[in-house]
Amino acid sequence: MELKASNISFSYNKNRKILQDFSLSVNSDQIIGLMGDSGSGKSTLCKIMAGYISHYSGEVTLEGKQIPDKDFYPVQLIFQHPEKTMNPKWKMKKVLNESWTPPQDLKDTFGLKEHWLTRWPNELSGGELQRFSILRALNPKTKFIIADEISTMLDAVTQVQIWEALIDHCKANNIGILAVSHDKDLLEVFCDDILYFDEVNNL
Ligand SMILES: Nc1ncnc2c1ncn2[C@@H]1O[C@H](COP(=O)(O)OP(=O)(O)OP(=O)(O)O)[C@@H](O)[C@H]1O
Ligand SMILES: [Mg+2]
Repeated sequence: MELKASNISFSYNKNRKILQDFSLSVNSDQIIGLMGDSGSGKSTLCKIMAGYISHYSGEVTLEGKQIPDKDFYPVQLIFQHPEKTMNPKWKMKKVLNESWTPPQDLKDTFGLKEHWLTRWPNELSGGELQRFSILRALNPKTKFIIADEISTMLDAVTQVQIWEALIDHCKANNIGILAVSHDKDLLEVFCDDILYFDEVNNL
């Protein structure tokens, strides 16, 4: 399966173009890295590819077809800031099970502690919250994961553990990954190819 962004152009307002004629492609068996300066539009592109922004020009397709916006969106975005994606009035158990109910072995793989489930989002660290975000995104209907700087809040050892767990799961389930990071060394370890945003986005 191929996830493709073709000739994407976008601006939040008419004074400044964020994306200009940008294209990329990820296959189900690939991990593609994306690097670029802060503010260059990486998170914006992630939101477009995961269906959060619709007023762009160009096309995002899955197997050559437009992605229907009803039911479950097969391109799941794991956000840079997990706390922004969680309802602060929900306990973590409800947050976790919002999309699907991850099995115990998967919760263990991502080091999710049982006693976190009875807490509120603001009672967990960024790294702890991010494990919940990752698990939520791994719904069995997910075909692609867009990982937008998902591990910046983790120490180096945990970062590698979480990435290995995510990659193992995605390889086993034929889920492709677009990984955004400022960490070139990290991307070089895991990715099949790395795109440099400023070169491909002709601004
Ligand atoms: N909702 C918004 N309205 C207006 N401008 C925005 C909005 N969101 C982001 N921007 C601007 O668009 C530009 C691109 O932002 P974006 O978050 O995509 O960058 P980024 O490459 O992900 O940066 P970083 O590496 O710091 O995460 C920035 O200049 C940002 O200020
Ligand atoms: Mg960003």
